[in-house]
Amino acid sequence: MTRRQALLLAGAGVVGAGVGVTGLLRRWGSPPGGPLSSLSSEPGPTGSALREPESIASEGGSLHVTLTAAAGRVDLAGRSVRALSYNGSVPGPTLRLRPGDRVTLDLENRLGAATNLHVHGLHVSPEGNSDNVFVHVEEGEAFRYEYEIPRDHPAGTFWYHPHLHGLVADQLFGGMVGAIVIERDDAVSLPVDRERMLVVTDVTLDGDRVAQVSTRDRMMGREGDLVLVNGQLKPTVTVAPGGREHWRLINACTSRFLRLRTDGAEFLQIAGDAGLLAEPTPVERVLLAPGNRTELLVRVPEPGRHRLLAEPVDRGIAGMGGMGGMMRGRAAGGEATVTLLHVEATGQAVQPVELPPRLADLDDLRGLDLDRERRLTMAMAMGMGMGRGVGLTIDGREFDAARVDTTVRLGTVEEWTIINDSPMDHPFHLHVWPMQVLARDGRPVNGSPQWLDVVNVAARTSVTVRVRLNDFPGRTVYHCHILDHEDLGMMGVVEATG
Ligand code: C2O
Ligand code: CU
Ligand code: CU
Repeated sequence: MTRRQALLLAGAGVVGAGVGVTGLLRRWGSPPGGPLSSLSSEPGPTGSALREPESIASEGGSLHVTLTAAAGRVDLAGRSVRALSYNGSVPGPTLRLRPGDRVTLDLENRLGAATNLHVHGLHVSPEGNSDNVFVHVEEGEAFRYEYEIPRDHPAGTFWYHPHLHGLVADQLFGGMVGAIVIERDDAVSLPVDRERMLVVTDVTLDGDRVAQVSTRDRMMGREGDLVLVNGQLKPTVTVAPGGREHWRLINACTSRFLRLRTDGAEFLQIAGDAGLLAEPTPVERVLLAPGNRTELLVRVPEPGRHRLLAEPVDRGIAGMGGMGGMMRGRAAGGEATVTLLHVEATGQAVQPVELPPRLADLDDLRGLDLDRERRLTMAMAMGMGMGRGVGLTIDGREFDAARVDTTVRLGTVEEWTIINDSPMDHPFHLHVWPMQVLARDGRPVNGSPQWLDVVNVAARTSVTVRVRLNDFPGRTVYHCHILDHEDLGMMGVVEATG
């Protein structure tokens, strides 16, 4: 048995036996959903007011926080469910940080399996006890992470989740996720009524526990039956008609893509993965691959009831029928439009204040001299991956933590063409350095620079990005952010040398 298979088995234990013991120990407490709701197989009532995760903010340049990763009962979709969480809630607390901060984060592991932590999108060191995804924190142990947020770090919406190869999808699906916000004093100020954090996850429940998934679900990238916002099923937000709210949205689903739209509100997009856009941009729809974030100014002009919806996204599942016949069945890729939120505009109408026409001056790598060009190919290869039939690879290889796949030099600008030679979409994610999208399938991206840290490479297409390797020596990873694919091997190691 390979180490990864052992980890996969251990992963099954996380939502099986591991939770069972803790669940039993906690059974005699009072579960938030009450005994009736935990017996019912129907999800809890919808339409309750949206809650937001607790915020923990740095003060005077530092933050010391403990995150306890544990298996136990949490309130999920309006019921008491045996799941995994940070500090007992799904999502875990929102960390609010500022450039120049020193963050000390103690991760305590009471999951019944190993884990670790990744701060997705933060431009921080990947070495030592900073954002090092090679760290293992065993059950019963604690690990002290220390992050130094650079003074020039952009403001934006980021997030944290486990990153222990082989267990990432199960642990995220189990409930382990939280948001990170970086605020800058010198950022443009936005005249809004209020700000909201909306962490979108999906989950399938089996009785009062998180369901296990099949090998086929892993190959496809699992999609949960329930799509939740801040752990709630179709909660309601109440807004002032005519006013403007600032919503931060994180696609923290394990594998599900979200194409956001609304049936009556207006969206102005102001930020993406890497912080502010150049200017507020009216949008009807926003596509978030797993891992992507967006920030929207939302306005409902008239009193009334509306919804925030996620439309189905074809991520190339149909073409998978041909791959050994094992890919058929309840297609991931979502068949129906899902309601994420009810939006109720009631009360006193508000006149919105004028918005600043420009939000930020963005770095633009187009037209710069390149130090190096590379090609990376994501593929699904038959006859690889023991017992699975299909291997998920980058450049023909499955992940090996002991191998460096790509070596880059600090102080350079590189151009990477990421080729998807498979019948499914693969959202490509690079740690530490954001990517500027230059071209999609050979068609150049014009207009304002597009900066992302997860860029979807649609089935049988390519995407060209540029990366400014300005800082941080050490080893880190790039991978498919369909986290089932990452766990199955679609990840590579990149080492930056000085
Ligand atoms: Cu959001 Cu390598 O992860
Ligand atoms: Cu990441
Ligand atoms: Cu993938």
